[in-house]
Amino acid sequence: MTVTDGTPMVVVLSGPNLDLLGEREPEIYGYQHLADYITEAVDEGKRIGLAVEHHQSNHEGALVEEVHRARKRVAGLIVNAGALSHTSWALHDALTAFEGVVVELHLSNPAAREPFRHTSVLATASDGMICGFGGLGYRLAVIAVGRLLGVKGSAIGVDALGLVPPAADSVPRPEGWT
Ligand code: DQA
Repeated sequence: MTVTDGTPMVVVLSGPNLDLLGEREPEIYGYQHLADYITEAVDEGKRIGLAVEHHQSNHEGALVEEVHRARKRVAGLIVNAGALSHTSWALHDALTAFEGVVVELHLSNPAAREPFRHTSVLATASDGMICGFGGLGYRLAVIAVGRLLGVKGSAIGVDALGLVPPAADSVPRPEGWT
């Protein structure tokens, strides 16, 4: 569950056609490549105290085997299974047999797209889902895994994501909100 220095391990799993990011329907998935998002996930992991590894496959069985390999070895999985998210009970069962935390990830918001994307068969095997935020989702997913694992560095602040906070008086805030 940890690398040799005690840092928890997280594996990002990418399913079919995600190797085509940057070329494939960029109006939906963006112009960056999968490697760019993985670099961001690795950097985010370093920032908060997680070691991030990545595997991509276009084959369902290979992804199932990666989940098996993660058992008793890694603390968390971030899974963007592409279209297999909507169909693969084999991947669902493999994730159910994984004892660590699971965050399902999508670049797009499948619920706002074609009906066949509205169901994720992986949802009941996942602790939570991040979708609809494009490439930012990779960093958010690493932070989410960190929070679920109780990793200290995953406490979120506006500066954590490199975002410029809105001017204090430009947003109405409920009482007690900081
Ligand atoms: C996707 C959404 C899936 O419906 C689709 O099949 C993909 C990508 C996403 O990241 O938005 O391949 O998982």
